[in-house]
Amino acid sequence: MILVTGSAGFIGSNFVLDWLAHQDEAVIGLDKLTYAGNLENLASLKGDARHTFVRGDIGDKELLDRLLAEHRPRAVVNFAAESHVDRSIHGPEDFIQTNIVGTFHLLEAVRAYWCKSSSAEGAAFRFLHVSTDEVYGSLAKGDPAFSETHRYEPNSPYSASKAASDHLVRAYHHTYGLPVLTTNCSNNYGPLHFPEKLIPLMIVNALAGKPLPVYGDGQQIRDWLYVRDHCSAIRRVLEAGKVGEVYNIGGWNEKANLDIVHTVCALLDELRPRQDGKSYRDQIAFVADRPGHDRRYAIDARKIERELGWKPAETFETGIRKTVQWYLDNQEWVRNVQSGAYRQWVEKNYAERG
Ligand code: NAD
Ligand code: TYD
Repeated sequence: MILVTGSAGFIGSNFVLDWLAHQDEAVIGLDKLTYAGNLENLASLKGDARHTFVRGDIGDKELLDRLLAEHRPRAVVNFAAESHVDRSIHGPEDFIQTNIVGTFHLLEAVRAYWCKSSSAEGAAFRFLHVSTDEVYGSLAKGDPAFSETHRYEPNSPYSASKAASDHLVRAYHHTYGLPVLTTNCSNNYGPLHFPEKLIPLMIVNALAGKPLPVYGDGQQIRDWLYVRDHCSAIRRVLEAGKVGEVYNIGGWNEKANLDIVHTVCALLDELRPRQDGKSYRDQIAFVADRPGHDRRYAIDARKIERELGWKPAETFETGIRKTVQWYLDNQEWVRNVQSGAYRQWVEKNYAERG
């Protein structure tokens, strides 16, 4: 079996669903259920004996010692993190606690477990750390995309905390020989994405008749990957990745934020036209920029294609259509995540942008 941390979040829950759709190997999910963790994401697995869920913190070493000893996973896939840049600007402490201190405690528990395992189990064991392209910093237009050897230049408290966790993972391999793999992926989008991030926020706000807040000039560029493609890449790295290596994962799909918002509006105009016949584009509102806003991210994903034969299956056009359709079909999921805490965050983040 494998242990998946952060399994109730956006990518973690997609990963668990994707994993069990492809094989019968059991999964134990560990998640603290912060505002971003949602057990409803895993509701379709109710009664499935291959899935066990445990509520807990990756920083709780006693709990981890117990789970590892009891379930003896052959791999740990670490998704657990605080993940939203704007929240890291308002309050970095949780990012330091979970992404740095939490990853440290997780690594310590895994190291102790791995040291005690038999030589055959120890050789087959993997710790896969899921990270982000944001650790590499910001590119100027025309700069080559991030390769695995690009220097780390994180600019936000979020990316700095992820960079620190990547360094710890690397050090546990070099110092203790722990069999680690690290993946650095670009921006994901798709079903079950919490509506604080760009794409789901735009869909949800558009349908609610609210403004579509574009930071600054909207010309910041991100590379976008459909979440199920990220999941297939992680499965492939776990299966065939070389221990100690880093793999960049991306969609070969750089787009400016404003173009993303226009695409979402065009799809909604087609699939759920506004009653007044106008375009959702009329709801776009330019607001104050994010402090320290990275201008451009781009991923050079040739290594994972060359060495492991992985390529994304979705184009942006197919992936974004599926995503918008998923939100239209899952309005109850959207209503359920828009709790009081969600409303408070939206109030705090957007009120001061004017
Ligand atoms: P998310 O915020 O949707 O989910 C994170 C999950 O981790 C939540 O379920 C939360 O409850 C859980 N969690 C938080 N602190 C925890 C703790 N201390 N112990 C246990 N669980 C805890 O994030 P996501 O978008 O699913 O991202 C998952 C991982 O992928 C993160 O490590 C993130 O840095 C990385 N990543 C995300 C993207 C993206 O575009 N979303 C891109 C590249 C990499
Ligand atoms: P986000 O989804 O928060 O991901 P990240 O900051 O990790 O890339 O934001 C994606 C881009 O969209 C980023 O450049 C910030 C911008 N953005 C907006 O313009 N408006 C918004 O309301 C949000 C949430 C993001």
